[in-house]
Amino acid sequence: MYYCLNNFIMVSKDFGLCSIRNCISDSSLLGNDIAYVFLSALSYDPISINEASEVILRSFKDAELNQVINDATEYFDSLIPAGVLSKGQTKEECISNRLSFSYDHQNEIRERFENFNPVDENYISKINPQRDIKLKTLHIELTSRCNERCIHCYIPHEQKTTDMSMDMFNRLFGEVRSAEIKSVILSGGECMLHPFFLDILKRFKTENIYVIVLTNLTLLNQEIIDVLASGFLSSVQVSLFSLNEEIHDRITQKNGAWKTTMQNIERLRHANIPIKIASQCFKDTISSQEELMNWCVQQGYSYNIDFDIVGKTDGDTSNLRNRVDDIALYQRIIEIKDKLDPAFAGKLYVGKCPEYHICNVGTSVLAISSLGDVYPCVGFAGYKLGNIKESSLMDIWENSSVLNRLRELRLKDFPMCAKCEDKDYCNVCMQYNASVTGDIFTPDERKCEITHMLKTYAMNQKR
Ligand SMILES: C[S@@+](CC[C@H](N)C(=O)[O-])C[C@H]1O[C@@H](n2cnc3c(N)ncnc32)[C@H](O)[C@@H]1O
Ligand code: SF4
Ligand code: SF4
Repeated sequence: MYYCLNNFIMVSKDFGLCSIRNCISDSSLLGNDIAYVFLSALSYDPISINEASEVILRSFKDAELNQVINDATEYFDSLIPAGVLSKGQTKEECISNRLSFSYDHQNEIRERFENFNPVDENYISKINPQRDIKLKTLHIELTSRCNERCIHCYIPHEQKTTDMSMDMFNRLFGEVRSAEIKSVILSGGECMLHPFFLDILKRFKTENIYVIVLTNLTLLNQEIIDVLASGFLSSVQVSLFSLNEEIHDRITQKNGAWKTTMQNIERLRHANIPIKIASQCFKDTISSQEELMNWCVQQGYSYNIDFDIVGKTDGDTSNLRNRVDDIALYQRIIEIKDKLDPAFAGKLYVGKCPEYHICNVGTSVLAISSLGDVYPCVGFAGYKLGNIKESSLMDIWENSSVLNRLRELRLKDFPMCAKCEDKDYCNVCMQYNASVTGDIFTPDERKCEITHMLKTYAMNQKR
């Protein structure tokens, strides 16, 4: 028998547990550390149960191969109803049974996964508040150049000048492979402006790495679509600020941008490539976000309608003047999100204990600019950790004194947040604090007001 993971499933380890992530719905199933060993033997490419069991056996020195084969078969078969795995008598049969994302079947895939009951419901009680430290996601700014000039963009327009050199990319790619980094975010600037974007995309796809492309989607072509649609899942996050052409073109300061982006969204959809629409609530866009969200739901696109605008990476905060002043307008967006997603209000509670890491900084993510500068996360200006021309990525990850300092921080080290009554509803963000207030420990009053509104809303929904 052959087994493989379906094209939207990623397996990783966090909080001491095995996390089986469904990239389509961004939800996870949990397993114990043994589940992690078993599932790590599988990938998108089919493998026989005997070969997989031999890999598993390396982690259990006293076990018998036959026993591992029996246990692995039983465990793998139990995950088939959840849409985690596929199997077949031959490699070819396994491939033809393998599930892939499609717009026609995405609800079915999501429901199978989300309605699946994990074997051991006590996993949650075993969560270790200390995150596992492993670099899992690398955000790569392939170029700082861009063909749009968005009014809120955190990259100063005069710095939109540089492509990552292929020498640098090749070195980085080698490191991604050897560090077994599981997902990369290709961004910019506008990453499709990079002269070798297609080759770069192909390289990651060949390694079955989960690629998320952040783009304004004005430069898509058929070759890019074909590569995106091949192999292990890739998804595309598209900046679309409104369904109103005038508003979108005013934000991007590019006439005709909306038309091209909309046409290309349709092409991605046709190729069954998962799309996430990213928009921001500005003075100019907030009134059209309801229409945008309704459209996303109708089309089957996920969406991220964000409230937070960060300052520019050169310290200029003039772009923040686009923020909405009236909290009641944000609340209206929350009400619409709640109406569209029955699980939304429940997800507002994020739960914070004083011993928690603040976020993924120093535990699972890094960002690298087109010049090779490495940062704790994207846009975290002023916190340069090193440059890959001088040190390897892993050296920076393991030894940067700045990163080690950030890695040590826990919620209890943030004086206002530690005693805040709303912290269980807050995604505290050091990078956001730094870019808006100038200090990672000092929260932005506006964000705190919004968090209070979220908490009040969630509590009222519970009654
Ligand atoms: C910097 S862009 C790069 C990728 C691509 N050019 C695009 O626009 O999608 C990535 C995302 O960051 C968002 N963004 C830009 N400036 C921002 C800011 N000041 N605060 C928050 N998000 C911002 C964009 O709207 C976009 O969704
Ligand atoms: S398209 Fe992206 S990178 Fe370009 S200006 Fe807009 S937000 Fe910035
Ligand atoms: S609401 Fe403000 S003070 Fe409270 S946890 Fe969030 S950022 Fe910190």
